[in-house]
Amino acid sequence: MAKRIFDVSWDQFQTLSLAEKTPYLMQTDGVPYHTLIAQQFGHSLLERLALLANEIRAIAKTRAGTEFLRSQVAHKRAMLYFSQPSSRTFLSFVSACQILGVPTGEVRDISISSEFKGESREDSVRTFSSYFDLIIMRTPEKGLAERMAWVLSNSERPIPIINAGSGQDQHPTQALLDTYTLLRSFERCGGLRDRTVLFCGDLLRGRTVRSLSYLLTNYPNIKQVFVAPGPLQIGEDVLAVLKAKNVAYELTDDFHAAIPQADAVYMTRIQDEWDTTQGESAKIDTRRFKFGIDELKLLSPRAIIMHPLPRRDEISTAVDSDPRAMYWRQMRNGMWIRTALIAMTFGCEKRIHEYFRHNY
Ligand code: CP
Repeated sequence: MAKRIFDVSWDQFQTLSLAEKTPYLMQTDGVPYHTLIAQQFGHSLLERLALLANEIRAIAKTRAGTEFLRSQVAHKRAMLYFSQPSSRTFLSFVSACQILGVPTGEVRDISISSEFKGESREDSVRTFSSYFDLIIMRTPEKGLAERMAWVLSNSERPIPIINAGSGQDQHPTQALLDTYTLLRSFERCGGLRDRTVLFCGDLLRGRTVRSLSYLLTNYPNIKQVFVAPGPLQIGEDVLAVLKAKNVAYELTDDFHAAIPQADAVYMTRIQDEWDTTQGESAKIDTRRFKFGIDELKLLSPRAIIMHPLPRRDEISTAVDSDPRAMYWRQMRNGMWIRTALIAMTFGCEKRIHEYFRHNY
């Protein structure tokens, strides 16, 4: 794995477009060094990752395969630095590390780390890089993972960073598992092309939708329908990307009218943790943006229902037993795609392909 040098100042780096930032994040063979933004994943890389994840999940079914996988990255250690709540992203990354034999350390509460004593984020991350070979970080601050990647690139221990959710902005590995779920769901019925993906809920502040909307632009003829109450409708910056890429999209607040055209319905929770004034979200009428038995009746028999989770009441538990409910499998897919990403980052892709070819 070749280390990445950011030969620009932080101020210059921030002025780059997402496309201009991408080369700084990749290794020479086109795989990620840092994983910071969805925009660094194009179609061929997404397909490579999905193939690797499929092989890993097959290999992991046997004891011999599990032992092979556990030997792959046993010489590396990973730090999980989560200064924002998480269940599935944290645990799926821990599981991914365990599958590959990567020992982990963690800071989940900065009030018991030396940041509480006034240590800067920069010094904290440099400290982690002294002991670990990979940092997986979730933060409430937009762009912090990028900033830390830049800081480390100019230190004596540059190591990769994986963004496990940054502010309202990006959640690239969630978008990877969402794309992987769509690919698997449609692989036997025409693939991920000529589809309509409907996003519903808090689209303004949901970072998973922002990252997935971008990744879907890598697949042909995917229409994106954004269903939200006016104040929570998708941001203009996302729409600008869709316009620039000639992607068909529609904005509406009529969920029932939109459901029948969907091949996938992607529900999201109201993200009231981002409220800037007391009770701001509670004033928005979200009753028409929930999925229950009535909505199931409107959904195509071949469509799927997704959710990044956690949910509140935007999907009724009565929907869970419907075969179209994909969100639990979607969550487990996160473990496999994150295993594939870590394996790829540390240069194990070829060895895993060879093991798969010889044994399956
Ligand atoms: N989807 C997701 O990011 O879940 P967690 O917040 O539980 O990690």
